[in-house]
Amino acid sequence: MNILVTGGGGYLGSVLIPKLLIRGHHVRVVDIGYFGLGHLRTLNPRVEMIRADLRRVAAEPELREKVLDGIDCVIHLAAISNDPSAELHPNMTEEVNFQATVQMAEAAKERGIRFLFSSSCSVYGDADGDLTEEGVINPLTVYAVSKVRSEQSLTAMADSKWRPVILRNGTLFGYSPRMRFDLVVNIFSLYSTLHNEVRIFGDGMQWRPFLSVQDCARAFLFFAEKKETQHLCYNIAHENLRVVDVAAIFQTLNPSLKVTHVALDDPDRRDYKVSTARMKDAGFEPRIGVAAGAESIAEAIVCGQINDPESIFYRNAKWLKELTLAGTGDHGKLIDLMESFGSVQRAIGTTV
Ligand SMILES: NC(=O)c1ccc[n+]([C@@H]2O[C@H](COP(=O)([O-])OP(=O)(O)OC[C@H]3O[C@@H](n4cnc5c(N)ncnc54)[C@H](O)[C@@H]3O)[C@@H](O)[C@H]2O)c1
Repeated sequence: MNILVTGGGGYLGSVLIPKLLIRGHHVRVVDIGYFGLGHLRTLNPRVEMIRADLRRVAAEPELREKVLDGIDCVIHLAAISNDPSAELHPNMTEEVNFQATVQMAEAAKERGIRFLFSSSCSVYGDADGDLTEEGVINPLTVYAVSKVRSEQSLTAMADSKWRPVILRNGTLFGYSPRMRFDLVVNIFSLYSTLHNEVRIFGDGMQWRPFLSVQDCARAFLFFAEKKETQHLCYNIAHENLRVVDVAAIFQTLNPSLKVTHVALDDPDRRDYKVSTARMKDAGFEPRIGVAAGAESIAEAIVCGQINDPESIFYRNAKWLKELTLAGTGDHGKLIDLMESFGSVQRAIGTTV
């Protein structure tokens, strides 16, 4: 298949694309490049890369045509992709996460192209019990609202000829060539490995469904290749754990680890665990639990696979804030510079 991956340069896309290539798919990426794209340029066979703002792609017919030309399936990952970064510029979040999603889906539907959307279990917000796809949603943040609105529009667009697939992914963890250290398991890996201490904000009793980035990529591959799906929406997760349970896993990995609690005036209200019965009925089974994932990230850090892991580059909200300040809105020039810098590094064989 010819597969378009929007946001393919990000944390999830960078793990997904090699898997698509290995399966013999041709991959085109459209990504604005907030976190660099150099790591995709070294892939062999190479991916076709279009560096562009999805808002432009979605709005400009010529560019949209170029991006969708010959495509059989869109895997739509591009987004302002967590709560704090979505709060930075709520209008931008609305444009990227909701408007561009709907416009791209409409363009895909017109052309009969399959469309897979990366949603999030955070749509459940704060609710009791094992939450199913048919149950109540309770989005508590700008980010979660943007995912819910997109899901609702995609669901309304579905008909007998065109059925989008919505994957409500759990909180991801694990190593990616484009690493993120603003996800709880990854943050704990970093602090456990480098500082022997992890901090839990609040009591840590809130539940989260967890999913390795490898399994999430496998889920997209699975649903891209599955031509018929019984449902439009699937929860995708490996296990539900409380944040204190995650800390306990790290204490098994590193027995000298100190776990401290930091009191918060405005504690995290998100607290949800999900049912994965529908995902399993469809035939998908994640393989990697938090314990195995935690160890592999810690190894990547210790082995120096992640340069300067405490850099804000690995934290979406902090990095996007710096980009905005430094670029006064013109991210393109800065991203050009970052890309050139990456090429120079590769050419002279050094890393930051
Ligand atoms: N990481 C998680 O825990 C998690 C959990 C559930 C769902 N998701 C969803 O999965 C998707 C991928 O997440 P991720 O962790 O890889 O995020 P990420 O931030 O690492 O990647 C997102 C990519 O989208 C690109 N992008 C952002 N705005 C763009 C625009 N206007 N035009 C073109 N490209 C743009 C960025 O440059 C980046 O490469 C997102 O939709 C996210 O909401 C992630």
